[in-house]
Amino acid sequence: MDNHPVVSIDGPAAVGKSTVSRAVARHLGFMFVSSGELYRAVTWTALESGISAESKEMLSKFLFQLRISSKFLFGKAIFLVNGVDCAVHLSDTLVRQYISRFSRVPEFRRVLLEPLRDLGRRLPLVMEGRDIGSVVFPETPYKFYLDASEKERQHRREMQGIIEVIRERDQLDSTREIAPLIVPVGAWLVDTTHLTREEVVQQILRLLKIQGFHFSL
Ligand code: DC
Repeated sequence: MDNHPVVSIDGPAAVGKSTVSRAVARHLGFMFVSSGELYRAVTWTALESGISAESKEMLSKFLFQLRISSKFLFGKAIFLVNGVDCAVHLSDTLVRQYISRFSRVPEFRRVLLEPLRDLGRRLPLVMEGRDIGSVVFPETPYKFYLDASEKERQHRREMQGIIEVIRERDQLDSTREIAPLIVPVGAWLVDTTHLTREEVVQQILRLLKIQGFHFSL
């Protein structure tokens, strides 16, 4: 079956992808998908099952038995992993601590790819992440890459009350061998360092219009 339109929004940690993507989705009447939520949910489930990213055999067995389903609720995709909605655990310290180790394992990424692509066959989407325009939906013409200075992103994280060393996460996300964080070919690059959330949203909507995307503002 053909895909519905997908707007992909990639970028580094704490650049504001989620808030911006959610707002763009609302303007377009599309569903919002945070692919990081799926990465977090599966990481949490693995940790709960006592699996480490380094234990190859156990991780393979865990991934083989994994069941991922999804539903749309209030304009957003919700993932169920082995039938469980892990929403309340997505920001757990342990998840934050271990997620990069899991997300650099090729088999782990491969298993998460199809559930993400499947959403695009069901409804029009705005999906944010690290590899949406480069790997998950490389064929979409509507690609964006949000960036901001490291200092500004560290500040944004602190304003959220979250302690995280942005530089370390950047390093892990952009140097992993498989699907590293890159500016996807054909993506509009938006530097958000000096822009408000609303200005970023408006800029994306303007760029979509330039590309012939039809919707009412
Ligand atoms: O967007 P987020 O902060 O929820 O993502 C958490 C981690 O998940 C991120 O550090 C790397 C991984 N991730 C990924 O590798 N690819 C994606 N498309 C989304 C997230």
